[in-house]
Amino acid sequence: MARSALLNVMTQAAMKAGRSLTRDFGEVQNLQVSMKGPADFVSNADRRAEEIVHQELARARPDWGFLMEERGVVEGKDPQHRWIVDPLDGTTNFLHGIPMFAVSIALERDGQIVAGVVFNPAMDELYTAEKGGGAYLNDRRLRVAARQRLPEALFGTGIPFLGRGDHAGFLYELRQIISETAGIRRIGAASLDIAYVAAGRLDGFWERALEPWDLSAGAILVREAGGFVTGMDGKKFDHVAGDIVCGNEFMHKALIDQLQKAEAKRQAAKTS
Ligand code: IPD
Ligand code: CA
Ligand code: CA
Ligand code: CA
Repeated sequence: MARSALLNVMTQAAMKAGRSLTRDFGEVQNLQVSMKGPADFVSNADRRAEEIVHQELARARPDWGFLMEERGVVEGKDPQHRWIVDPLDGTTNFLHGIPMFAVSIALERDGQIVAGVVFNPAMDELYTAEKGGGAYLNDRRLRVAARQRLPEALFGTGIPFLGRGDHAGFLYELRQIISETAGIRRIGAASLDIAYVAAGRLDGFWERALEPWDLSAGAILVREAGGFVTGMDGKKFDHVAGDIVCGNEFMHKALIDQLQKAEAKRQAAKTS
């Protein structure tokens, strides 16, 4: 499979950062870890990987700006383009020795996501997508799952960090979804969860209050794999707003319906 020059640049950066993560993953007990907030960890592995992605992308496209999880915004001369980078998505997994983590890089052009790369170095899985060019896992073209029966569906989600999300509402959603489907997975790295929807491994995924670097690369993977991506209302997707629901056309709609049912049950419980 021939990759575009743009995807090559993104892939090189993700793989180089991935090699740094692999080295640090082998010596995870020696890392310096600090907390940014409740249940929100950062280590020198995150920062080292981010430095590599920044250097590689800035060398290849010197005028483009950045939005990065650890460093924040780096303005570029070119107002059209911005890289959105999560150097280590799944830090909690990483620090616990669980090999489910990824480097996630998206490119925003005029406010729209036009390319995305997600790389899980521990499994040597590289997901790439460019607008209009399809989505790939390594060299294999991706297509979202074809399943249309809710009792067969496996959905992914993310659990809001303690003190940062609506846990009560989330429990209503969990109860609703596990009563209608084959089950739920909480993988712990949103970029991989969403890439798994593109790969047809998960039938759908929903999570609230994510950051642009968690979901932007994944969102274009799902779209380019033929899937639907929206916010919680089932309408427009805004990668800066942070809410995402995705799946094939049928599962996306079914997931929105289930989430609305959960909300209705919650409201009914409040008034009874
Ligand atoms: C986290 C992961 C997790 C999601 C959290 C994110 P991080 O990213 O993607 O799955 O539930 O909301 O913050 O901090 O490991 O890069
Ligand atoms: Ca983090
Ligand atoms: Ca993240
Ligand atoms: Ca991160």
